[in-house]
Amino acid sequence: MGGQNGQRRPLIAGNWKMNGLRADGLALAEALAAWAKGRQAWGAEMLVCPPATLLGAVGRVLEGCQVSIGGQDCHAAAQGAHTGDISAAMLADCGADWVILGHSERRQDHGESDGLVRAKAVAALGAGLKAIVCIGETEAERDSGRTLAVLSRQLSGSVPVGEDGLSGDSLVVAYEPVWAIGTGRTPSREQILEAHSHIRGELTGLVGDVAGAVRLLYGGSVKPENAAEILALEDVDGALVGGASLKADGFCAIYDAAV
Ligand code: 13P
Repeated sequence: MGGQNGQRRPLIAGNWKMNGLRADGLALAEALAAWAKGRQAWGAEMLVCPPATLLGAVGRVLEGCQVSIGGQDCHAAAQGAHTGDISAAMLADCGADWVILGHSERRQDHGESDGLVRAKAVAALGAGLKAIVCIGETEAERDSGRTLAVLSRQLSGSVPVGEDGLSGDSLVVAYEPVWAIGTGRTPSREQILEAHSHIRGELTGLVGDVAGAVRLLYGGSVKPENAAEILALEDVDGALVGGASLKADGFCAIYDAAV
C-alpha cells in the first residue's frame, strides 16, 4: 500500500460464502497455513471466513498462524429458540475473532434490515467479536444517483453507535457495491474514492474521532490482477474477497498486494 493510511493496518479478508465441503476447506486452510508459516513480516492482517460447518476444523489447521478466522453471520440474540441460527458467542467459542454482518447476500436472501444488522453488531461486540459491517448500493441505486444517500442510510442504521465495545479496532466497514459482487466488474478508481471518502466522513459524524481508526474495506470482484491498484487508493484499508479467496495462491497474492 502507499502508506497513506497512517495507523490503519490493512486487513485482507476472505469470505468463502457457501462454498466448500470439508476436504476443500481443509485443503485451502492447509495451503494458507503452509504459506503463513513461511512468512516473517505481517504488514497486513489476514482473515478467512469459512462456512460455519468448517469453522472449527479450519481454525485448528490455522492455529499458531497469523491468520484469523471469522463467521459470515450471527444472530442478534445471545441464545434461545432460533432454529438453525448461530450466536456470536458460539462463533467465539469456535475460535472466531470476527464476524461479517449485513452482507448484501444476507440483506437480499434473508431480508436483513439496517436495524437487524445493527442488533447483530451489538451482539457481536458483546461476545468480544470484531464486526465487519457491509454496505453497498445496487446498480439501480447507482444509476439513479442515490449511491451516497444509500451508503449514509446503511451506515447510520447498521453501525452500533454508542454501544459498548465499539472502537477503531472492533469495527470494520466493507463497501461492496452489489453490482460488483461476483460479476467481474469493478467501480472506477473515482467511484471507489468517492464512496470511501464519503463513508469516512459519515462515520466521523456518527462516531467522532474513532472513525479515523476504522478500517474501510473494498469488496466486489477483487482479484490478484486488480488488487494493487484498488488497495493503493486513499481510504481503502483492505479488501473483502469472495471468489478469489477460494484459491490460496490468488488470495495470498492479494495479501501481498496490500503490503
Ligand atoms: P467476489 O469477490 O466474488 O466478487 O465477492 C465479493 C464479496 O461479496 C465478498 O464479501
